[in-house]
Amino acid sequence: MKVILASDHGGVNIRKEVAEVLEEMNISYEDIGCDCEGSVDYPDYAIPAAERVASGEFDRGILICGTGIGMSISANKVKGIRCALVHDVFTAKVTREHNDSNVLTMGERVIGPGLAREIAKTWLEAEFEGGRHANRVGKITEYEA
Ligand code: RB5
Repeated sequence: MKVILASDHGGVNIRKEVAEVLEEMNISYEDIGCDCEGSVDYPDYAIPAAERVASGEFDRGILICGTGIGMSISANKVKGIRCALVHDVFTAKVTREHNDSNVLTMGERVIGPGLAREIAKTWLEAEFEGGRHANRVGKITEYEA
């Protein structure tokens, strides 16, 4: 699995925590920043990262901002992206099993580093269940087409 990782200025610390989780799990990843002192615009990171997942260059993306909302709205504009904004471990598991989410977002101003690490690990480990859920995800893909 290859993961692309990004944040705006509001998500730098959690992004670093997630990078550590990816290293601990021996998952290959590319961190595209931001390397920012000041503020940046979350779509400038979310959209390129999501495009690189949609193209197949990466299997998954993890995007962090202050709330996770700006990153998730932006990523979900990219065709083929199923981005889930997650702030609890249960949803992290179920959004992989049921929605086959390929991008995860979290908000650094919402949750702490320990929970963010658990969410990332759970989301990376969980598998899509297929079956009736594949039919539902297929309807989203059909609509996009
Ligand atoms: C940046 O101030 C903040 O708006 C951003 O990190 C994010 O929370 C947007 O949804």
